[in-house]
Amino acid sequence: MEFTTTRSLSDAPPFPQPRVCPYQPPPEYERLGERGPLSRVTLFDGRVVWLVTGYPEARQLLADRRISADRQRPDYPAVAPRFQAEVAKRLVLIGMDPPAHDEHRQLLNPYFSRKRVEELRPVVQGIVDQYVDRMLETGPPADLVRDFALPVPSRVISEILGLPAEDLDFFQEASRCLLQATTREESQKAGGELVGYLDRLATLRRTEPGPGLIGLLAREEVGAGRLSHADLVQMALVILVAGHETSASTIALGTITLLDHPELLARMRADPAGVPAAVEEILRCVAVTDLAGVRVATEDIPVAGEVIRAGEGVLLSATMANRDPRVHEDPTAFDTGRTGRRHLSFGYGIHQCLGQSLARMELEVAFATLFTRIPTLRLAVPADRLPTRPPGSGTVQGVNEMPVTW
Ligand code: HEM
Repeated sequence: MEFTTTRSLSDAPPFPQPRVCPYQPPPEYERLGERGPLSRVTLFDGRVVWLVTGYPEARQLLADRRISADRQRPDYPAVAPRFQAEVAKRLVLIGMDPPAHDEHRQLLNPYFSRKRVEELRPVVQGIVDQYVDRMLETGPPADLVRDFALPVPSRVISEILGLPAEDLDFFQEASRCLLQATTREESQKAGGELVGYLDRLATLRRTEPGPGLIGLLAREEVGAGRLSHADLVQMALVILVAGHETSASTIALGTITLLDHPELLARMRADPAGVPAAVEEILRCVAVTDLAGVRVATEDIPVAGEVIRAGEGVLLSATMANRDPRVHEDPTAFDTGRTGRRHLSFGYGIHQCLGQSLARMELEVAFATLFTRIPTLRLAVPADRLPTRPPGSGTVQGVNEMPVTW
């Protein structure tokens, strides 16, 4: 009996594993990867699901129409208790299948195209400069998360959506509570506050014009009956939450990674043309969402010699797929000389990140400006002493504070 328990646990170890170092995958992940491109893990509620760690297998599955992202399905797996909250199940776009997903996506794509994002570069540069100015005026020291990494993408996304600047602290805090909630109730409370806020704003913008995407969609799409008010509120919620916390964490963890590799940082500083490649390598290595997607199979799917049965949960590991030794030479090394974009940090397939061009541009501007204007920037505490996020909230990685000096 004892043998069976031990065997079944080791066959399907718990997932996710806690991080020991905030910018490195949990040590246990290496062993998960050694078990082949597909293996089984156990979630907090005891459910056993597939974990896909191989790069080609993860791409194949993310592009397969026989897996569903519909969070309302009773068989959709919850990676942490917060995903059981109603607010998490109701998310449009990311939590929907075609055709509804595709309709919403087509509506939003033009606003996040590479061309549109490039037009925003001067705005983003202005925001980045403003926060660096403030750090230089008031520091050293500074908290890079509070003073730079979090407010920069928050300001950018509020400009895009048209959120009043004075609401920045409110939605930063509510998003933090939503993403770091360890219970369904906490998640519901924070999500409910954000939904209420966006609902009021979308209602106001229908009659009182204001800048930004919420006002535009409220007038043009909701006004014309092509989009429901409730869906607009949900869209704004997804863009708001997905659009700043992920970029903020990548700025913070990417800064630590660059500081950890002074020769590569010096090369990036000397050659601004190398910044996009450095950003791509940071994205590959830090993969802040950890998972490139969470899905459920709607039919039996044969893959890599296994069969994923209809109704089984499937987690696609960006962290592990990004380190697949079949795809990357010396996969655990941080190497800004790599070419290509072979990582799943923005997901793949129909749900591939809507904001990826925006995120890339924000990261380029943030790193280039930060290390040019504060060339002696360094951590004020050893990197491995920075507290990791509390376990139990899921897989989104980051640090809540990051003391720096210069
Ligand atoms: C470094 C920053 C970012 C990372 C690592 C990231 C990561 C991801 C990943 C892995 C997915 C796929 C999820 C899945 O398939 O289930 C995704 C989807 C999404 N992301 Fe991002 N993201 C980032 C920045 C942004 C930004 C700036 C926005 C703002 C617009 C954004 C908005 C979205 C949306 C709306 C989706 C859902 C797309 C769909 O379902 O069609 N993300 N992101």
